[in-house]
Amino acid sequence: MRKILLLNGPNLNRLGKREPQIYGTATLDELEKKVKKAALSAGCELKAEQSNHEGELIDFIHQAEDEGYSGIIFNPGAYTHYSYAIRDAIAGIDVPVIEVHISNVHKREPFRHQSVLAEVTEGQIVGLGLFGYELALQALINKQKGDE
Ligand code: DQA
Repeated sequence: MRKILLLNGPNLNRLGKREPQIYGTATLDELEKKVKKAALSAGCELKAEQSNHEGELIDFIHQAEDEGYSGIIFNPGAYTHYSYAIRDAIAGIDVPVIEVHISNVHKREPFRHQSVLAEVTEGQIVGLGLFGYELALQALINKQKGDE
């Protein structure tokens, strides 16, 4: 069975409580369950991880390659905007990464308009709420079918 990693970065453990007017009221647990269910029905196994720590996120990215994952759905939170270390981790693996942002970062503060990761990711989904994670899953599944 193909394995996909759902990875959420800093502050996303607070989904549901954190600025609900921006990020909605669903919790991380609810999100993870929903995406896991969608993955299973598409014949994939999905592992969900979250960390507030840059180095731990980098470890998860490395492990995804070492453990044969075929894709990563990644919301890097604020690290999106400045983490060259995460960028290097993504550039250094041969696993496609789709960057997801719940909010439309382009409608928000100027510092959120830039992603230092976008150049090394497969694609980016922005501003579509939690549905963006499901779209990312579909994109990875489609890509895998195309690669087979
Ligand atoms: C976010 C957008 C980031 O700018 C912010 O720091 C987050 C969440 C989003 O999902 O919209 O933590 O990645």
